[in-house]
Amino acid sequence: MNPPQATGGMLELEHFWMPFTDNRRFKRAPRMVASASGMYYTTTEGRQVLDGLATLWCVNAGHCRPKVVEAIRKQAGELDFASAFSLGHPLPFKVAERIAELAPAGMGYVFFTNSGSEAVDTALKMALAYHRLNGQASRTRFIGRERGYHGVNLAGISVGGVPAMRKAYSGALTPGVDHLRHTQDLAKSAFSRGQPALGVELADELEQRVIPLHGAENIAAVIVEPVSGAGGVLVPPRGYLERLREICTRHGILLIFDEVITGFGRLGQPFAAQVFGIQPDLITFAKGVTSGSVPLGGVIVEQGIHAAFMNAPGGGVEFFHGYTYSGHPLACAAAMGALDTYAEEGLLTRARELAKPFEDAVHALKGSPNVIDCRNLGLIGAIEMSPRPGAPGARAFEAFEKCWAKGVFVRPIGDSVAFCPPLIAEKKHLDEMFSVTAEVLRTVA
Ligand SMILES: Cc1ncc(COP(=O)(O)O)c(C=O)c1O
Repeated sequence: MNPPQATGGMLELEHFWMPFTDNRRFKRAPRMVASASGMYYTTTEGRQVLDGLATLWCVNAGHCRPKVVEAIRKQAGELDFASAFSLGHPLPFKVAERIAELAPAGMGYVFFTNSGSEAVDTALKMALAYHRLNGQASRTRFIGRERGYHGVNLAGISVGGVPAMRKAYSGALTPGVDHLRHTQDLAKSAFSRGQPALGVELADELEQRVIPLHGAENIAAVIVEPVSGAGGVLVPPRGYLERLREICTRHGILLIFDEVITGFGRLGQPFAAQVFGIQPDLITFAKGVTSGSVPLGGVIVEQGIHAAFMNAPGGGVEFFHGYTYSGHPLACAAAMGALDTYAEEGLLTRARELAKPFEDAVHALKGSPNVIDCRNLGLIGAIEMSPRPGAPGARAFEAFEKCWAKGVFVRPIGDSVAFCPPLIAEKKHLDEMFSVTAEVLRTVA
């Protein structure tokens, strides 16, 4: 089907192989946006649609914010590209300094990538190289977690724990990876407001099963999302992350927080590490750093790890790694615009104010047909429906399509529907988002 374009004429849909999309279904009934501003998209037919997911957990400052747009515009005409391989331009240094100011104390170094997937691979490689420099070259194993999502590169899907991401590639995954159990327990913790009270002991599996099995001296790092996003929005039980930190510290294992979603204000502080009062060794970020406007990602590095590279004997390149576009001027300009917007509008802590009305709105969906869980933390949440017999995921996908038709964009994940609005959301936007969702859920059989 070729839908009319906003500019007139017909759009050919055949040639773009869309990522993470049922291409055949989409191309029969496309959902197309033409522009966006603040909390809303405008579709090619001219309809307004509320962005209830910050698009893909990215657009934390809202769409097309003036400072971001202006920064990109200006940069494009001034310095389009300069490599950061043995050549400098000021912007990545400035952005790194700004990120270091926001990061947990003692995490003052930033390595840039273009995406979250690259940030994850970078962090894993950094962990391996660090241990080698530190005289512990046997530490080569990684521990991920079931239902964890760490992007789509081979190392990322290896430590990730979403079966659909892994099964076609199972013979080619990074070796030496084990997984902790995921933390969802609907029997004990369904409809928890914020962090579930039960389940801290799930972290003990690291010390009781995984470390004895592989030997701490062979484990490089544990990688987890503080709140799992793409695996279904799973909020960690109270005390769980703290306990992972204690165990990693006891055994010399690095703890990597994948904050590609939780970074830049999603939980009410710049990073989830600060919300939980935990210092990881490496933090991966992407998405919100530019409010989604230009691809940029990276790794924030604890100073001792950075020092191990900088003090390595012999001189020369300290870390044989980098992307052509690491520290790209346009991406860094966009980041400056986004960071300015966050600072001026207090957005990196705004989720604290909105967390309670957001929580109430998510939990008001309890009692809707088929809803078996509501969960939330900061400004991220989800409801879960029981699967339709023989058709797992069908209910949530139907809800997503119907919400879109009624002017609200949310995301289906398995049988869950996820909510993650831009941090500029106001109460009226939450009302709109959740009243449409409630109305839709009543029609999903
Ligand atoms: C926690 C986490 N890590 C990594 C990624 C991958 O990021 P990207 O799609 O930019 O490669 C994502 C994307 O959603 C994510 O949520």
